[in-house]
Amino acid sequence: MKIGICSDHAGFEYKGRLIQYLEDKGYEVKDFGTRSADSMDYPDVAHPLAEAVGNGTVDLGIAMCGTGNGMAMTLNKHRDIRAGLAWNTEIGELVKKHNNANILVMPARFITFDEVTGITDIWLNTAFEGGRHQRRIDKIPVK
Ligand code: RB5
Repeated sequence: MKIGICSDHAGFEYKGRLIQYLEDKGYEVKDFGTRSADSMDYPDVAHPLAEAVGNGTVDLGIAMCGTGNGMAMTLNKHRDIRAGLAWNTEIGELVKKHNNANILVMPARFITFDEVTGITDIWLNTAFEGGRHQRRIDKIPVK
């Protein structure tokens, strides 16, 4: 399982800690930046991550910015991406079970690092339910 990860400056500290956490669990992690806590523009790292998930270079993605909204808005411009914003474990579970999110987005300025790992764990370990939810996600893309 190869996971791509990105953040802007607001999520930079958590990104580094989450990479370590995931590597310790045996995941291969590709870091798409940002590379420092200096202020930057989230689309500059979100677009490359979305492309990597879309073309299969990585299996899944994780993105963090302050609220998560900038990342989610940018990532979801890509046709193959379902980026889901989650701020607690229940939503982290449902965003995979019901929406099959292939990128998990979290609001770094509004949750603790323990919440980041809890949400990430449940999202990674939950299976998509399919069925009526497959029919619904099939209707998301705009022609
Ligand atoms: C950065 O200040 C902040 O705007 C960004 O991290 C994010 O919350 C945008 O959606």
